[in-house]
Amino acid sequence: MNEKYAPLKSNVKMLGHLLGNTIKEAHGEAILEKVETIRQLSKSARGGNQADRDALIEEIKNLPNEQLTPVARAFNQFLNLTNIADQYHTISRSCEADVCEPDPVYSLFSKLSEENISKLDTAQAVRDLNIELVLTAHPTEITRRTMINKLVKINKCLSQLELNELSHSERKKNERRLEQLIAQSWHSDVIRKQRPTPLDEAKWGFAVVENSLWEAVPEFLRELDDRLENYLGEGLPIDARPVHFSSWMGGDRDGNPFVTHSITREVLLLSRWKAADLYLGDFQELITELSMVKCNDEVREMAGDQHEPYRAILKPIRVLLNNTLEVLDAKINHQDVPNKPILEHVDQLWDPLLACYKSLHECGMSVIADGSLLDTLRRIKAFGVHLVRLDIRQESTRHSDVISELTRYLGIGDYDQWSEQDKVSFLVNELSSKRPLLPRDWQPSEQVQEVLDTCRIVASQSREAFGAYVISMARTASDVLAVHLILQECGCKFRMDVCPLFETLDDLNNSEAVIKQLLNIDWYRGYIQNHQMVMIGYSDSAKDAGVMSAGWAQYSAMESLVKVSEEAGIELTLFHGRGGTIGRGGAPAHAALLSQPPKSLKGGLRVTEQGEMIRFKLGLPEIAVNSLGLYASAILEANLLPPPEPKQDWRDLMDVLSEVSCESYRQIVRGEPDFVPYFRQATPELELGKLPLGSRPAKRNPNGGVESLRAIPWIFSWSQNRLVLPAWLGAGEAIQYSIDKGHQELLEDMCREWPFFSTRLGMLEMVYSKCNLEISRYYDERLADPSLLPLGDKLRAQLQKDIKAVLNVENSDHLMQSDPWGQESIRLRNIYVEPLNMLQAELLYRTRQDGEAGEELDEALMVTIAGIAAGMRNTG
Ligand code: PGA
Repeated sequence: MNEKYAPLKSNVKMLGHLLGNTIKEAHGEAILEKVETIRQLSKSARGGNQADRDALIEEIKNLPNEQLTPVARAFNQFLNLTNIADQYHTISRSCEADVCEPDPVYSLFSKLSEENISKLDTAQAVRDLNIELVLTAHPTEITRRTMINKLVKINKCLSQLELNELSHSERKKNERRLEQLIAQSWHSDVIRKQRPTPLDEAKWGFAVVENSLWEAVPEFLRELDDRLENYLGEGLPIDARPVHFSSWMGGDRDGNPFVTHSITREVLLLSRWKAADLYLGDFQELITELSMVKCNDEVREMAGDQHEPYRAILKPIRVLLNNTLEVLDAKINHQDVPNKPILEHVDQLWDPLLACYKSLHECGMSVIADGSLLDTLRRIKAFGVHLVRLDIRQESTRHSDVISELTRYLGIGDYDQWSEQDKVSFLVNELSSKRPLLPRDWQPSEQVQEVLDTCRIVASQSREAFGAYVISMARTASDVLAVHLILQECGCKFRMDVCPLFETLDDLNNSEAVIKQLLNIDWYRGYIQNHQMVMIGYSDSAKDAGVMSAGWAQYSAMESLVKVSEEAGIELTLFHGRGGTIGRGGAPAHAALLSQPPKSLKGGLRVTEQGEMIRFKLGLPEIAVNSLGLYASAILEANLLPPPEPKQDWRDLMDVLSEVSCESYRQIVRGEPDFVPYFRQATPELELGKLPLGSRPAKRNPNGGVESLRAIPWIFSWSQNRLVLPAWLGAGEAIQYSIDKGHQELLEDMCREWPFFSTRLGMLEMVYSKCNLEISRYYDERLADPSLLPLGDKLRAQLQKDIKAVLNVENSDHLMQSDPWGQESIRLRNIYVEPLNMLQAELLYRTRQDGEAGEELDEALMVTIAGIAAGMRNTG
């Protein structure tokens, strides 16, 4: 490995060594030796030694049941420790000195000046920055919170150890602490025993804000401010809000019966409670700090004749915050609510604090104003009084069920059976009418009642509490109007952003027509006040049509939505429903944003952050600062130096690639009779259901087949057996087809000049590198009926051909040529992931043989699932 990674390598080695000591102490030398034998065999098998490969398989087949768990745990823990060393590396001093890219905002500014982009335009683009990260409770974080906490502490120790000036005893103390933390992890359960409730999930989200974002946001803005000051000669305006946060935790009820209206109510209260609690900490600190006496006239007037005017202004806010906590507590616990004024609006915090800020500046105390006080002002803008804004998400048919039950009750027919045109005119009529539609004595079904109750909760709050109301599986204009009508009927007085989520191939292709239709409705145009939000579904479209075809449909949909909104003169916010993995639309932020159509980021960026990605990107303040910097620079770049408009022949070829890839993908997934049994047998799909990852069920319909399986477990299963099928199937075949049709040169052009296309190929390379043919074949041999083996072989042969096709277009000799570190990091982990894969196949074999698995095997199996996920660096 390259010398510049030496500090990382030495950290991995040290952590591995400490883990070894822990294992030896807990289980004796024999287990440690077993682990070491397996590791050595795996290493040599990777190097191509077939005899060692056979020996490894034998070794694993012969492991007695009671040794399976400790061995699996050893590899699992090692991968977690490697990940933490890797994560630490990105924020370490050695990385800053030798490895890291220069600060992305700084590099962007050099690029902008090379390209002669005017400073005026740059300043405007910075003022327009609007990044909204939406934290979701998607069940992809496999690591328990207890473990995450320990990993965070390990990270802290690593950072301490990097300091040269540590004394001998300080160093010893740190090493002992590391040892303790590793031992604590070893002796704790790796897997959650129970599913988290939606409330647990929401609290986890608040903890991310508390432990990381609360600190990271002002820090990020401080850095950005500095860079701007240097480059433009003017910093960030004081009231800028380039980044803010929303959440789905406790609001997303799509296919999750546990997210009820009362949960949503409680989460809304808890989120305000947490905000008040965090502000209280800030104000305590400010009251301690701001003992100055000199002030301007405004502050003097506010403070009266108090000697320490700043404290005099801030103390009543402390009382207000304490009252807020008390009142919210009572509401959360359904107790009598004390009659006290509470924090309702950000101005209650902002106005007095801003006055202090200005006064300190005017009175020659800028250095004080620009310290913690400025940080709190920045937080007030970013987090408001609600901490995060909650999105509500519900599936489209749940709303049409409401209207249909209602029209049947009213005796005017069955809404569900009406044509789209009739539905739209009914809804528009009712939306424009002043007469209420819901009969007083109507007693709807429980399901319908729940939708109504949720909308009543929305109506009872202020607009600022919410981000958007997202309709999943949205198809038609009536899907959107129905939600507006239900909200109106439930007494919602403010304008909620109702955001259709288009998530199948057909729906994406049809999205332009739906939005056009809506914008042609007078009532709608008037109501939305020139703002429309549309969500693009990345993973379900990929599950439906394969990644290549879905990628092109997403691009085309965004492009035409941008055009439609420009023509109509409305502002469009595109909301990206991306997952972490490539099969679910994941990609490094920079590449992902620059591969979007020109102008698609003008309305800002709204994007989901999910599960383990929240931890990887936002889990620690330093990491979050880096991630926010990456987002900001990528958006500025996309807006100021937009990627090229695709040429007509690129588009034509994309149409072909899309069609051919979709056909090949569907031919296997839908057309191949052996496919479903193969999927069930060769992957741990059935067993994954037992893993208590998130609060929501794995399927929309518990009795449904693969079609009702959610995108996350679908991708998750295939990444466990290392075929990673849905992330590549169809794409390479389409590329080869186009080469055969004589389009090699054109493909190479696209790859060179069009970020959309080159990113796509780059992501395919990454997926190919995570695939492992031998392992996937081993799963087949151990687990699948012999009659299914030809299908597995066919898919693997296809994969090999696909890799050749992609490398050919890219003119590369081998995968990830341009990302040696990425390649190295996959290779490094493989030595530990492969034994886990083999253990998993063995465990699946044993548990499926026995029918009743027993706790021991079950636990070992879950540990392998978690370990492989850690090794692949993501789950679903
Ligand atoms: P969804 O998300 O199933 O909630 O639509 C899919 C995903 O994030 O991959």
